[in-house]
Amino acid sequence: SKLKQLIQQLPKAELHLHIEGTLEPELMWRLAQKHNITLPFASVEAIQDAYQFNNLQSFLDLYYQGADVLRDEDDFFELMWAYLGKCHEQNIVHTEIMFDPQTHTQRGITYDVFMPGFARAIDKAKTELGVSVYLILSFLRHLSEDNAIETLQQAQPYYSMITAVGLDSAELHNPPSKFQGVFAQAALLGFKLVAHAGEEGPPEYVWEAINLLKVDRVDHGVRSIEDPKLMAYLKQHQVPLTVCPLSNLKLCVIDDMREHNIVELLNDGLRVMVNSDDPSYFGGYLNENFYALVDKLDLTEEDTVALISNSISASFLPDNDKQEWL
Ligand code: HPA
Ligand code: ZN
Repeated sequence: SKLKQLIQQLPKAELHLHIEGTLEPELMWRLAQKHNITLPFASVEAIQDAYQFNNLQSFLDLYYQGADVLRDEDDFFELMWAYLGKCHEQNIVHTEIMFDPQTHTQRGITYDVFMPGFARAIDKAKTELGVSVYLILSFLRHLSEDNAIETLQQAQPYYSMITAVGLDSAELHNPPSKFQGVFAQAALLGFKLVAHAGEEGPPEYVWEAINLLKVDRVDHGVRSIEDPKLMAYLKQHQVPLTVCPLSNLKLCVIDDMREHNIVELLNDGLRVMVNSDDPSYFGGYLNENFYALVDKLDLTEEDTVALISNSISASFLPDNDKQEWL
């Protein structure tokens, strides 16, 4: 359709994307063979077929297991390079990518393995594809705050590659308040701040992310709609919510895409935009997330343009660079 063509053609930013969530079954299979790892799957198709989730945790279990095939610098290069190629194909001109150091350091894979792999792909994408990339170091919230503090310290040689810190993994019972100390340290070091909140967790977690962690953006935040005071705050302060439609569907945050509240949030004056979260696991990259909204929510051209312009304005790019795309 004309609207889908517009979505494909407009320059876009992606602000909520986990690099470990871009690991396609084909690459997982190939890396398992390369490193002589026995996967609990008989074929590439069997991997794909296993991607049926009933909540966040059932996804996280497969996501951490999948990441185990990432062992050497070339693996991290390949992973990053494949995603940045997708960005080029989909006219994503700027992307702010989360990576989970603890998913790797816990298995004995150190920063000096994955960071140089990422750096090589990012540099190549800048020069060959013209894609702009920022990195967000994301802490696993099911682990302790002390472990997060150690993870931030270990990143020290790579601080110049990192724009922000974030918070992901199992939300329920791991509220933002658990990470006040490490977020305060990251703020002092000059990092921007983001946190997943209000995906499975209650609006109270969104308040904590704002008031206790002092985040610049909230990842997901779709459950904010349950709290009118919070909605008023998000609108007044134009706090960005990085919404991920196919993720919400696959993790059963909603039962049907027709129930998704992104258009409601947009029409209420909130700064929301579309993101793919973990595209390999959730069945689509950024454009496919938009197409799902066009098909199921009757997204208008005006809505589409607003969502895309929010993706640029809510990015951490300097104002001059934003202007180029707005
Ligand atoms: N939520 C929490 N943790 C995650 C996600 C998510 O959507 N994706 C990868 N880690
Ligand atoms: Zn996420």
